[in-house]
Amino acid sequence: MSAYLNGRFLPLAEAKIPALDRGFVFGDGVYEVVPVYSKKPFRLDEHLRRLQASLDGIRLANPHDLAGWRERILQLVALQDFADQSLYIQVTRGTPVEGQPPRDHAFPKGVPPTVFMFAQPLVTATPAQKAAGVCAVTAVDNRWLRCNIKAISLLANILLRQQAIDAECAETVMLRDGFLTEGAASNIFVVKNGVLLAPPPSNLMLTGITYDVVLELAAAHGIPHQVRAISEAEVRDADELWMTSSTKEVMAIVTLDGVPVGAGVPGLLAQRMDGLYQSYKQQVMRA
Ligand code: PDD
Repeated sequence: MSAYLNGRFLPLAEAKIPALDRGFVFGDGVYEVVPVYSKKPFRLDEHLRRLQASLDGIRLANPHDLAGWRERILQLVALQDFADQSLYIQVTRGTPVEGQPPRDHAFPKGVPPTVFMFAQPLVTATPAQKAAGVCAVTAVDNRWLRCNIKAISLLANILLRQQAIDAECAETVMLRDGFLTEGAASNIFVVKNGVLLAPPPSNLMLTGITYDVVLELAAAHGIPHQVRAISEAEVRDADELWMTSSTKEVMAIVTLDGVPVGAGVPGLLAQRMDGLYQSYKQQVMRA
């Protein structure tokens, strides 16, 4: 597995950062996860735009322009000996230099950001897993109020996701003040009476690239949909519940807190959307 660190391509095991890197000490950085199919990054420009928004959100200058990112990413993708990849991109506020305090909350001056990328094989759901669906639990969304920033400081998300793992489930569906926000590492959609419902983008959730694709496909194929606040009661009374992300794509949640969602099997709209998503992927990959 090859990695990229601050301008160099190297084996992943050799990628090392100084212990005082602000990513390590403070979780002071942002990231992206880009799915790569047959060595073609999916929706790369959208991921790079979101990276820019995250960098702006933490007041860190983007070390590369779009072309610079694209060139480095395509080189890294080409170096891997597997075709379908989950590409990880991380930018941190770098490492304080000689003469600066080793650990100080204040931004260090004149320090270049640390840029780290690597790819691992992309493991998407098998047809059998899709046919079975997954279970989820709910939890109170106790994260900070800037969840639209894809920050590497994921402690809250990790603790929330672990609640699902401990219950032998795949995801934790989060509720804040009685309304659906998102999953610990995914966006959540609800289907009720044939209408697809999605929570509106805000500072309380990360607007997924997959979320955008799903809504675009719904619009393009005449699937009734509404982007609006979704109450806890609506989540619990859903005919279908989906989780979406770059790595999970569109996955039906069939049990929530031990209670079957709708008929307790992946719904018809989930199956249709997964089909549309797969065809869209094929179409983009051929272009
Ligand atoms: N996570 N919301 C959160 C909190 C996420 O962490 C993710 C993705 C999403 C979905 O975004 P997208 O469709 O762009 O993948 C929503 C990635 C996959 C991760 O952290 O591994």
